[in-house]
Amino acid sequence: MPDTPLAGRHVLVTAGPTYEDIDPVRFLGNRSSGRMGFAVAAAARAAGARVTLVAGPVALDAPAGVERIDVRSAAQMHEAVMAALPADAYVGAAAVADFTPATVSGHKIKKGPGDAGLVLELVRTRDILADVAAHPRRPALVVGFAAETGNLEANARGKLDAKKLDLVCANRVGVPGSGFESSDNTLEVYWNGGHRRIGPAPKAAVAAELVGLVAGRLVDPTTGRPRP
Ligand code: C5P
Repeated sequence: MPDTPLAGRHVLVTAGPTYEDIDPVRFLGNRSSGRMGFAVAAAARAAGARVTLVAGPVALDAPAGVERIDVRSAAQMHEAVMAALPADAYVGAAAVADFTPATVSGHKIKKGPGDAGLVLELVRTRDILADVAAHPRRPALVVGFAAETGNLEANARGKLDAKKLDLVCANRVGVPGSGFESSDNTLEVYWNGGHRRIGPAPKAAVAAELVGLVAGRLVDPTTGRPRP
């Protein structure tokens, strides 16, 4: 295998959280730092790919040589991803909001003296990963992430089937040395009929090994040639 196994390939990566606005000063977000997705983008670039990185709001510099598209909400991320297709591989590492406020208040929501609480109506966002996997120009390889607090394998394999993915990378969140807000990670990577644990290791090393798995699957094992 050459050391640039992804030369001539386009890899599309999402990273970071999304912010769903409630009013001009408030939003619903999550604790994703974006580091795993940025590490995947850097590793794919190092493997020779043209890389598009669609990033939610994060405090990270784009890896050198990577085209970065900044977005804020799940809806914006959906639009940017669809516009960036076609790609040979899609890696959905972003922690995309599942729900967004039904309406965004044009003014800052105020509390009144008699208000005991506030009910926010949320609606489902569109599933970017599932839409990429069902797209007429579906990438040859579609990779999802699954942040789980329990039942790792069952939940991850459920996602593999439900979203029609090629690989799903499960990571346990809420434990030290893994997942959100950590510089290290451990991934349990599942595919139909297989599994590999990557890490625990720094996210850059984890990303390099994951990109190796992706690159290996973009090559036909019988001919050693790139898969169309
Ligand atoms: O089903 P769940 O949200 O746990 O699946 C996580 C995977 O789905 C991640 O790869 C995430 O990027 C992706 N996702 C998405 N669009 C959504 C929700 C999740 O692409 N609206």
